[in-house]
Amino acid sequence: MTKNSMRIAVFAGDGIGPEVTEQAVRVLEKLDLSGLELVEGDVGGMAYRKHGHPLPAETLEIARSADAILFGAVGDFSCDHLERHLRPEQAILGLRKELGLFANLRPARVFPGLEDLTTLRPEVASKIDLLIVRELNGDVYFGEKGMRVLEDGRRQGWDMMSYAEDEVRRIANTAFTAAMGRDRKLCSVDKANVLETSQLWRDVVIEVSKEYPEVELSHMYVDNAAMQLVKNPGAFDVIVTGNLFGDILSDQASMCVGSIGLLASASLAEGTFGLYEPIHGSAPDIAGKGLANPMATILSAAMMLRHSLGLEEQAVRIEKAVAAALAAGVKGGDLGGSSGTREIGDAVVERL
Ligand code: NAD
Ligand code: IPM
Ligand code: MN
Repeated sequence: MTKNSMRIAVFAGDGIGPEVTEQAVRVLEKLDLSGLELVEGDVGGMAYRKHGHPLPAETLEIARSADAILFGAVGDFSCDHLERHLRPEQAILGLRKELGLFANLRPARVFPGLEDLTTLRPEVASKIDLLIVRELNGDVYFGEKGMRVLEDGRRQGWDMMSYAEDEVRRIANTAFTAAMGRDRKLCSVDKANVLETSQLWRDVVIEVSKEYPEVELSHMYVDNAAMQLVKNPGAFDVIVTGNLFGDILSDQASMCVGSIGLLASASLAEGTFGLYEPIHGSAPDIAGKGLANPMATILSAAMMLRHSLGLEEQAVRIEKAVAAALAAGVKGGDLGGSSGTREIGDAVVERL
């Protein structure tokens, strides 16, 4: 799909969100795409302070009118005392749910030249080229939850974990389709030895696998998967898993390839609409200092061009420019380098 006008909602959010998003926007503008329109909106803690809600109605309106969303990060510890529905994180959870963004793709691959920078041994890290397909609309994230006081006076927090079969089926289809376009190996990660939610997950994934006979399907418990991700990550091609396990395993995968500042993501609805964001958060510890690595956000913008706007060639240009900047030694503090946010943005823009 290429069309005459492309409307991108830009939700920068909190902490380092605006810093990294600014660089991704510079990259998009440098491409000089005809018909590109960027519309900003407020999300997260900054939106709460301005409008009294982390996902104001006008922001949701902008999101619905756009072809895609470029998202920075939300999260602000000064909001952690608020009732849960008013906390910054509800902005991203609300967008995912309201817009039906059920499929979260988180690719992890080692950039040439960075093999020595990961916390794994280079010969282990260099083999990593995997894709985590994380379900994003269900699981314990969206179940009923609460705090209560038991009869004996003890406080109890509770969260309901569940998956319905159609939810598993649609993410399994996404994952099998992704595997068909890659090495045709799919590992489904669950905790079926303990959880009924996971038993249903596994049963449905096996049912769906009948439609994809060319894909080699395996199953792994999540604890073992966490171990295998650092032992032999090169063995994975596509991983499909639920919302909670996918959240945790993708942060882990980011370190296997060097840094959380490098991992991009696409959150897709049926069709071409999507939200694109780095997998990291608002990083309050480095916010406002110009230290954040914007590459994950820049690479998310590339995913946006590919998946939502049909601009494969421009997506590849961005990815090559990031790889070239890294190969030339442009590295943020997260990778042991000394380049700041703006400098990294400059280096990518120069190489486009
Ligand atoms: P985080 O990802 O924000 O930070 C974890 C660590 O990684 C920190 O030391 C941080 O400095 C570092 N880091 C993260 N991104 C970096 C980058 N681009 N460059 C260099 N270093 C980077 O996770 P956290 O500290 O657990 O959470 C902080 C806040 O962010 C919380 O409020 C959390 O809820 C929120 N959060 C939001 C999102 C999102 O918006 N999608 C994702 C994760 C966490
Ligand atoms: C992520 C984040 C979010 C999640 C939080 C901020 C709600 O950690 O996108 O990985 O848990 O999905
Ligand atoms: Mn996360």
